[in-house]
Amino acid sequence: MSLNCKDLLGLEHLDKKDLQTILNSVGPFKSLFTRSVKKVPTLVGKTVVTLFYEPSTRTRNSFEIAAKRLSADVVNVAVNTSSIVKGESLIDTGKTLEAMKADYLIIRHSLAGAPDILARNLNASIINAGDGFHEHPTQGLLDLYTMYEKKKKIEGLRVLLVGDILHSRVAKSNIWAMIKMGAEIAVVGPPTLIPSNIEDLGVKVYYDLNEAIKKVDVVNILRIQLERQQENLFPSVHEYVELYQVTKERLAMARPGVLIMHPGPMNRGIEISSDVADSPNAVINEQVTNGIAVRMAVLCLLKPKRKNASSD
Ligand code: CP
Repeated sequence: MSLNCKDLLGLEHLDKKDLQTILNSVGPFKSLFTRSVKKVPTLVGKTVVTLFYEPSTRTRNSFEIAAKRLSADVVNVAVNTSSIVKGESLIDTGKTLEAMKADYLIIRHSLAGAPDILARNLNASIINAGDGFHEHPTQGLLDLYTMYEKKKKIEGLRVLLVGDILHSRVAKSNIWAMIKMGAEIAVVGPPTLIPSNIEDLGVKVYYDLNEAIKKVDVVNILRIQLERQQENLFPSVHEYVELYQVTKERLAMARPGVLIMHPGPMNRGIEISSDVADSPNAVINEQVTNGIAVRMAVLCLLKPKRKNASSD
């Protein structure tokens, strides 16, 4: 079983069959986590390079753990102390790493499209670990898998994305994947943080959280990304908290057993109250654990470009 692509740049271009293939592949990798030896030899002899131009705790470390559990060699490029600070271009950096025989390049970049540029210019498999406002496909996949694992289905689930939809690459990847898998998606947030054309994707738009949260199965709470806002898009954090913080009282309006998800890092006390973050409904830490298994599946399912070298 494999995906018919060398790169994972986003979920927009994967079809339902591809998404189901990935979901079906995750379980066996997750079952490794309870063994005393958590490694398999699938990627022995392969080199995985992480190239993060933006900070990360979850994504970079879980890719590293995933690659090591598959027995790959892993190199983490420290962007701030690399030749990138001397002005080396993205393509030249990528070609340099490929000349060192990198098989996979995992990139996070503030500019949407940076992973696509590398994918067009390199033979190595490129995995998008988050590019600007565009997509964060492995986060979308781990969110999808966590819902599937907990609710045993995706079809017909009512999923609410709360908060800063405009600046969120996670929201875009969630929407592409979950709609294809048959979930009903709604978004809620201040009008200034909702993209104007989002209804064209089949998404329902709300501006009132008390109305939107009624009878949903999953609430995925997005971080307020103050660092990506060029201007103040809501009057004050205090007002945002009043109108859009997911609290215990608001959660009571959702369906019993509602899942609380957050891609992290969380701003406790802003988009999510601490009691909700620590409630039995929250699966935030399980999302992180699932991220490793999902990334193992992705690394194994991508189809490497056939090389001419006789040794491989
Ligand atoms: N969810 C996510 O992308 O977290 P990091 O920024 O810590 O990788």
